[in-house]
Amino acid sequence: MKKIITVLSLALVCLSGCGKQANELVVGTNATFPPFEYMGGTGGDEVKGFDIDIARQIAKDAGKTLRVENMNFDALIVALNSGKIDMIAAGMTITPEREKTVSFSTPYYEATQVVITRKDDNRITQISDLKDKKIAVQLGTTGDVMAKDFSQQVVAFNSGFEALMELKNGRVDLVLFDSAPAAHHLAKNRQLKMQQMDFKPEYYGLAMAKGNDALVRQVDASLAKMQADGQLDTLLDKYMK
Ligand code: ARG
Repeated sequence: MKKIITVLSLALVCLSGCGKQANELVVGTNATFPPFEYMGGTGGDEVKGFDIDIARQIAKDAGKTLRVENMNFDALIVALNSGKIDMIAAGMTITPEREKTVSFSTPYYEATQVVITRKDDNRITQISDLKDKKIAVQLGTTGDVMAKDFSQQVVAFNSGFEALMELKNGRVDLVLFDSAPAAHHLAKNRQLKMQQMDFKPEYYGLAMAKGNDALVRQVDASLAKMQADGQLDTLLDKYMK
């Protein structure tokens, strides 16, 4: 009987953290957020981007290989806290709300929300114009949270791209999205424009399970090294142009 219970509990442990190997750093992301993370490579089935290169260096510094798990943005924190992944690298903004459930690295990128509208729409030029407008966002993002402060008409999608399609098709008035991915998408969308308004800066951090202090320390050390030796600047040059 005892034996059976041991086997069963081992199986249960496996359910939460299974497939995770000691020599792997398993990183969760949502690859709909260029240039931070997106699908690319010759077959289009490879997760690439600024965050992924950072995560790969962190894994290397730890003597591990990187494995990337792609999932919906709003599933990342759940996956982290159930042990399915070790770290989130997803352009995730450090917020007091999230800090209640995860631990963040030192910030590695400063961003802001921007307002995207159709090019021919001149009704929205300042923050007060957002009031009661129809807003599309990516589900579970800071843009999503912010939009609800301005309006009750917020529709959330699993990617910023889908939110922008909704705008293009005239079903919403604006999209709230992070600056760099917005600029990236707009380069291919001539019917849309983006405006910088007086929103607070946001800082991206890598998220780890609360209490995993050893990993947090290690990640911070890797980030500091990448900052000091110029690798972070090289990556910025590579991805943010
Ligand atoms: N910075 C925003 C947030 O933390 C959006 C991040 C979206 N990231 C992504 N990989 N889709 O909520």
